[in-house]
Amino acid sequence: MFITLGLIILLAVVFYLKQYWYVLFSEKLPHFPQSFLTGNLLLLKAMSPAVALARGRAVLGDLFSFYAGPFRIVCLNRIEHVEQVFNRRHIYERDTFSTSVMKIFLPDSFRTLTGNEWKLRKKILSQIFRAPPMATYVSTIVNGADELIEYWRQEKHVADDSGRLKPVTKNVIFDIFLKLLLVDPSIHKESSAEFRQVFFDYETNIKKAMRIVFLPYWLTKLYLKLNKNFQRTEAVLHSYMDRFMNDANKSQNNLMTVLLSAEENKLMSKKSVYFDCVDFLSTAYGLGELSIAWFFHYVASAEQVQINIKKELASFGITPKSTLTIEAINQLVYLDCVVKEILRHSTAITTYTARVALEDDYLGNEQEKVPIRKGDTVLVCTYNIHHDPNYWKFDPYEFKPERFLNEDKDHEAYAYTPFGGGHRLCIGQKLGQLEFKLFVLRLMQFVTVHREDCKVKLNPDLGQEELVNLTGIYVTFDNETA
Ligand code: HEM
Repeated sequence: MFITLGLIILLAVVFYLKQYWYVLFSEKLPHFPQSFLTGNLLLLKAMSPAVALARGRAVLGDLFSFYAGPFRIVCLNRIEHVEQVFNRRHIYERDTFSTSVMKIFLPDSFRTLTGNEWKLRKKILSQIFRAPPMATYVSTIVNGADELIEYWRQEKHVADDSGRLKPVTKNVIFDIFLKLLLVDPSIHKESSAEFRQVFFDYETNIKKAMRIVFLPYWLTKLYLKLNKNFQRTEAVLHSYMDRFMNDANKSQNNLMTVLLSAEENKLMSKKSVYFDCVDFLSTAYGLGELSIAWFFHYVASAEQVQINIKKELASFGITPKSTLTIEAINQLVYLDCVVKEILRHSTAITTYTARVALEDDYLGNEQEKVPIRKGDTVLVCTYNIHHDPNYWKFDPYEFKPERFLNEDKDHEAYAYTPFGGGHRLCIGQKLGQLEFKLFVLRLMQFVTVHREDCKVKLNPDLGQEELVNLTGIYVTFDNETA
C-alpha cells in the first residue's frame, strides 16, 4: 500500500518536473512571461478567454502558447493548422480539461466519451441528430416564439431595463427544447415552470461547485457528496427525470425515447440516459438563449437588417398566417446570412474549440514545423479567426449579414467554424440552426427591436462589447409606432 502510494507520488513529481522544465526552459512558441508554479494562470484568471486569446494573437502572433500551471495550451489562429487538427481524428480528441470537469457532474455522458464508446453512442444519437425530424419541430418552435410575443403584447413595452427580456426569453427557449428533446411536461400534468426552476437550481449548484474543480477528482466528489444543497437539487431533478423516463411515449421519436430504447437493448445504462438528457437539454437551451440574446443585441442597433428580413418574408409571401415548411424556411437566404453573421461575430457563442493531443505531432509544413507534445491542449481560436482580415474581405469587426452574399460569399471553409469541426463537430448543429432561424423569423413577423441611446463600452481587444448587452433594448409591435 505505502509502496504503491510512494510510486504514484514519485510519478506525479517526475511528471510535474518534466512539464516545468518545458515551461521554464524549453518553450519555443511565443508566450507571455510565466511564473514557476502557476504558469500563466493568474493572467488567464484576470480576463475572459475571448480577451486572453485576442490579446495573445495581437501581442504574440498567429501561434502562441499559454501555460495553465504545468499544462501547455497551444493556440492556433491559422486555418491550415485548424484543418490539420480537425482532420487528424486519431491524434486530436475532445480536450481533457473540459471532459474531466464534465465527468464529475455528468459521468458517461456522450460528450465525455472517446474511442469506441463515443462511436457507439454517436450511432445511437444519429437516429435523431443526423436527420432531425425538422418538420415536426417547426410548430413547437413557432408556438414557443408566439408565447414570447404574447407576453410582450400584454406587457406592451418590454425593455430589458425591467430585467424581464432575458429571463422570459430564457424560459421560452428552455420549454421549446424540453418539448423537442425530452417531453411535453403538460402531458405529465407537471408545470413547465416547476421543472424549469428545479433545472436552473441544479445548474446554479453545478456552477458554484465548478469553483473547486481544480481539486483532485475524489475530493471534488467528496465535496459534492457532503454538499446538502447540491444533493437535494440533484435528487429532485432525478425524481422528475425518472417520472419522465417511466412515462415516456415510445411512439414519439425524440432524444429521450431513442436513448431509452438503447437502454432497453443494453447498449447504455439508465444513468447514461439521464446524464445525456440533462446535458443535451442544458447545452441546447443555453446556446439557444445566448444566440437570441446576441440577436437582440446586434439588430437593435441595425434596424435595416430587420427591415431586410421582413422584406424577404414578404417577397416569398410568408405571412403570420402561413404554414411554415422546411422548404419555405430554406428559401430565406438573407435570414440565413443574419444567423450566420451572429454566430461569426459574437464574442461568446463560440470563442474557441479545444482538443487534446493523444501523441506527439507536428502541425504546419516542412518549412515551418510546429511541434505539439502528447498531452498538450490545442485551442482553435474561433473568435480570432472569425475576425481575421486575412480571411474576411469585408471589415470583420462590422456586423454585416450581407457579407455572406457578397464579399465573403466564398470564404475559406476553416475560417468559419461556429460549430467546431472534424469528428467532434457539434452534433446539434442542424437543430440549433433551425431553432435559431425559426425563432428569429417568427419574432420578425410581429415586432421590431430597438435600442435607446446608451453608451456602448467597446472592449479594445475584441473591437466590440465583450458581453451581450440588452440595456436600453425594447420591442414594439409593427403596427404601432416606435
Ligand atoms: C447555435 C447553436 C450551437 C452552437 C453554436 C454550438 C456549438 C458547438 C461547438 C463549437 C461544439 C464543439 C465542437 C468541436 O469540438 O469541434 C459543440 C459540441 C456539441 N454540441 Fe453544440 N452548438 C449549438 C447547439 C447545440 C444543440 C442544439 C445541441 C443539442 C441538442 C448541441 C449539442 C452538442 C454536443 C452534445 C456537443 C459535443 C459533441 C461531441 O463531443 O462529439 N449543440 N457545439
